[in-house]
Amino acid sequence: MRQLLTIGTVLSVLLIFLTGCTRERSRYVIGVSQCSDDIWREKQNAELRMGAYLQGDVELRFAAAFDSDERQVQQIDSLVATGIDLLIVAPNQVQTISPAIDRAYDKGIPVIVFERKTNSQKYTAFISADNYEMGRVMGEYIASQLDGKGRVMEIMGLKGSSPAIERHNGFADALKNHPNIEIIATLQGDWTEESAVKATKQWLSKEQTANSQKPIDFVFAQNDRMAMGTRKVLLSSSYPYSSSPQFCGIDGLPGKDGGIACVRDSILDASYIYPTHGDKILQLAIDILDGKPFEKETMMMSALVTRDNARVLLMENEEIMRQSNYLDQLHNRADGYLQQLDTQRTITWLACGFIVLLLVAIVLFYLYHLSKVKLQHERVVNTLWNLKPEDVPTSPAAEQGESPETREATEDTEEKADPATTSIFITRFKEVVEARLDDSDVSVEDLAADMNLSRVQLYRKVKAVTGSSPVELLRTARLNRGYQLLLTSDLSISEVAYQVGFTAPSYFTKCFKEEFGMLPGDVKSS
Ligand code: FRU
Repeated sequence: MRQLLTIGTVLSVLLIFLTGCTRERSRYVIGVSQCSDDIWREKQNAELRMGAYLQGDVELRFAAAFDSDERQVQQIDSLVATGIDLLIVAPNQVQTISPAIDRAYDKGIPVIVFERKTNSQKYTAFISADNYEMGRVMGEYIASQLDGKGRVMEIMGLKGSSPAIERHNGFADALKNHPNIEIIATLQGDWTEESAVKATKQWLSKEQTANSQKPIDFVFAQNDRMAMGTRKVLLSSSYPYSSSPQFCGIDGLPGKDGGIACVRDSILDASYIYPTHGDKILQLAIDILDGKPFEKETMMMSALVTRDNARVLLMENEEIMRQSNYLDQLHNRADGYLQQLDTQRTITWLACGFIVLLLVAIVLFYLYHLSKVKLQHERVVNTLWNLKPEDVPTSPAAEQGESPETREATEDTEEKADPATTSIFITRFKEVVEARLDDSDVSVEDLAADMNLSRVQLYRKVKAVTGSSPVELLRTARLNRGYQLLLTSDLSISEVAYQVGFTAPSYFTKCFKEEFGMLPGDVKSS
């Protein structure tokens, strides 16, 4: 039985291992470390996923740092520890994330830095749109809208992030060519709408007293979300801005609340498409991993969004969305089929394992049964009748639990018989018992009479020599003879029972089970 358990355990472990192995590792595992989590990043992640579907067998592991340097450093280290083949990273700030990126690069993991820069040269490829150019184009656009004269405000993105620095530089350089445009404030945001709301409110509370009569003509926020934040605050304040200040931002996202729709609906005056192009980034990653040639620095094309093109851009985007939804559905369906296949494979493995276990259990049980039968055979051979007198133990029953009178009688009258006398006695007793085996009425008195002894004398002698009483020995002899008959003759169980002096076959079966631990039927069929 212990063997059975050991084999069972080994097989179960094997099974678990095999079922666990059914899902193989993807061809490539790519880690994506996003500095933040917003609609721009969501769009990009969706495109990355789409790119991975098209490549097939590519696993993406995403992490978003929610604008925290510390968290992004930890996330990059963790992604690397999971065993990624390539890292795609948008570093929160120029200075702070470089050590983690360098660590990944030094471990031989190719790194694609996208959209935001670091101060390290340890990267495999860089892909982005031109942030300086965006700031410059927005500066020129505003100047032209104001006919070269007016007061503008700038809301900057996260301090220390490369797009904020570059967009600002481009914007400032453009306005240098327009001396009559005054930058009345450059406020510090962090790319979120809330940061622009807060910075604008703070500025207003100081400015209202200091500069209360001067209007704002144009607000340039470095992204659309911050443009919306500042707009909310300025439009609800009593600050004396010009009749209608204009707002513009960057990102130009499609979708219901995106920058393009805001421009179409005249909420923003202009935006600039900051391309997400997750699919392109993914393609670049695969080219690197496949060892194909690739560009180390890629600048993505971009465009200004104004009321003139907003509608067309939105229409085009709707079509793209329709196609990509369709692709998404197809992918989900394929994924469902693959999952079903996986489940079926697991079930098949489990069923095979179960069958193997069952077969092993049956074989082991059969072997166990055979060894038990063999043991019984041996026991039959070593029956009372084969015992030599010297092998017979000296009455253990007398030492253990015999009744006081019997012990007394034994102690009083027991003579120290020599082995030869004992042997003769046993042989005689054996003959007497064997002669009476088929007689169900035989009593101890009858056996004693056949041996010319009294009942008590026979009891004491037999007990002293064999440790058992005559009745017990008679019963054992009957059962052993029964066992032999079952093994060697064609007699039925009932016939055997009667032949060995049992009056009821059912009682014979009961005693047989007690004696040999198995049923007479087991012996017959073994
Ligand atoms: C998205 C975002 C954009 C912005 C860009 C700058 O996370 O904040 O709105 O244009 O990052 O890196």
